[in-house]
Amino acid sequence: MAEKAKVAIFISGRGSNMAALLYASLIDDCPYEVCLVAANDPEAEGLAIAAAEGVPTYALSHKGIARADHDAAMEKAARDAGAQYIVLAGYMRILTEGFVGRWRGRMLNIHPSLLPKYTGLDTHARAIEAGDSHGGVSVHLVTEELDAGEVLGQMAVAIRDGETPDTLAERVRFAEHQLYPQVLARYVAREADPDFLLQRVRDLALALPQSHERESHGSPGWRAGSEKSGKYFAYFNDQHHGSEHIALLVKTGSQDELLNLVETQPDTYFKPAYYGASGWVGLILNRPDCDWEHVAEWLERSWRAVAPKSATKLMDAADEF
Ligand code: GRF
Repeated sequence: MAEKAKVAIFISGRGSNMAALLYASLIDDCPYEVCLVAANDPEAEGLAIAAAEGVPTYALSHKGIARADHDAAMEKAARDAGAQYIVLAGYMRILTEGFVGRWRGRMLNIHPSLLPKYTGLDTHARAIEAGDSHGGVSVHLVTEELDAGEVLGQMAVAIRDGETPDTLAERVRFAEHQLYPQVLARYVAREADPDFLLQRVRDLALALPQSHERESHGSPGWRAGSEKSGKYFAYFNDQHHGSEHIALLVKTGSQDELLNLVETQPDTYFKPAYYGASGWVGLILNRPDCDWEHVAEWLERSWRAVAPKSATKLMDAADEF
């Protein structure tokens, strides 16, 4: 099985979701592992649970520290532990925009309501008060706006007669403990899923002017120009010729450039069989820190090398805005 994605969990208190995530990670085929549990309260109960299970911990009280400095220290602890994802589990802090921005698409949170309903606090009381048939829980990506990022998974929990916020919270927590590990596992596994990666590449490639898709030797490829005379600027390779990589092949300027990339950044680039000889480099996609802006830049560069002037002019004009 591919290397497991490394996850840092941030907590503020009991850490029951952290424990659910941690124990789920100990099941053999779980695609993530917990590399750190960090808290803004050194007394957080969850820290002791993690430590007892041999998971590294980090604690730094936020009291008397500027928000940005506290965020920076927590982020550094996560990076030092090798985290590729940050998972918030009852982390009662508002995060600075810079911190959230640097982890876009790699920071998840769990919120005890069926979002977009009831962002913020007192979610259970508000659901009961409104006469809702169900409360529930959502796992979502963290963005700058509170509880507003893309929802990755939800579970509804029936509200019974005579329910109080406490009784509902208790049952919702069971749902949380099922949902969070499952959604996180599915989310990190996407990085190694060829269908997901292909679709992402396809969206980027076809967004370039005058581009179309055409299969080449059984692989999806994209050409710039007309259907008749277009030229290939990218290929998608799923573990070709014994390679373990799922990769995008794009055109470098020269063999020297290709070899230099492969030598200096072997985690990102490789020289593909056959295509390498004519200057195509493999950009590895199935790795947790794949930078999609970088992929988009390579696609555009490769496209520019073969696209008709009319198309590149259009692109230049768009770039000026
Ligand atoms: C959970 O109810 C979660 O939905 C919310 O904070 C609570 C954390 O509880 N974000 P625990 O510390 O995981 O037990």
